[in-house]
Amino acid sequence: MSEEWKKVAAPASISNLGPGFDVFGMALEEPYDLVCARRCDEGVSVVSMEGLGSEGLPSDPSENSAAIAAAEVLRRCDADFGIELRIMKGIRPCSGIGSSGASAAGGAYVANLLCGGILGETELVLCAAYAEEVTSGGLHADNVAPSLLGGFTMIRSYAPLEVVKVAPPQNLGVTVVMPDVEVSTKEARQVLPSEVPVRDLVFHVGNASCLVHAMMTGDLDLLGRSVKDAVFEPARAHLVPHLNDAKDAARSHGAKAAFLGGSGPCVISFFDRSMMDGSGIAAAVRDVYLENGIDCQTWITSPGAGCREV
Ligand code: HSE
Repeated sequence: MSEEWKKVAAPASISNLGPGFDVFGMALEEPYDLVCARRCDEGVSVVSMEGLGSEGLPSDPSENSAAIAAAEVLRRCDADFGIELRIMKGIRPCSGIGSSGASAAGGAYVANLLCGGILGETELVLCAAYAEEVTSGGLHADNVAPSLLGGFTMIRSYAPLEVVKVAPPQNLGVTVVMPDVEVSTKEARQVLPSEVPVRDLVFHVGNASCLVHAMMTGDLDLLGRSVKDAVFEPARAHLVPHLNDAKDAARSHGAKAAFLGGSGPCVISFFDRSMMDGSGIAAAVRDVYLENGIDCQTWITSPGAGCREV
């Protein structure tokens, strides 16, 4: 049995956004992966992978994000067929903008399409988060939730999973600067503290609460003040060269906030699209890396939609 291919765009996402470690995430307009799938008799296989960093990714379906998520969808749907996958990476792995999460989201979404859309949003997030757990060594859904659902998402609870989605402000612009440095999420999770002091908890709850208020009301100044992390980004800063200089450069060129994307190394900036186009911020951050002999790639983008058939 073989059928027509279905193709899905699965967007990059920013996770943590300062105070929301493993909780906050936001889908980006670009970049994105493309995940194609068609039914086959049995099993899940990755028949081709191309694009950014694909040569370093496992094609073994027990280790590949998209395949693990797709297999979990088939299992939950009790499907009597298998799936062949083709993956086109638009998001480099180990980037901090949810590369594995996008592939997992795309794998889950396209598998669900082939199953007739049986699974609902929350179950799809669970399937993709399971793939993240296998590949990154820790259960987290803050990339796969926005990649699947779009917009800004919050994980209120992991057990049971409850995801809440909010539409980000229309004028929120995002620059992404990806230095030519790789940071694996697995490694970046191993350097985190297992406990936090109460004063840091208070700091995070205050900033997280106000960040959500700012997202919902479009207050970009409050948003900028609230993208603060006293615990996780500082613990990881040594993994990302020139992070503080890059953040300073972004802020001095008009960014409302500058911070580490997920587990890094991407440096993310927020800006007001009604006031500027973001190119000065992106150039300033890029220059910090170029002056230090590190090449980088940049995107000037905005919050975006979740997985969709294309
Ligand atoms: N919240 C996760 C982390 C996202 O920071 O480890 C990984 O991309």
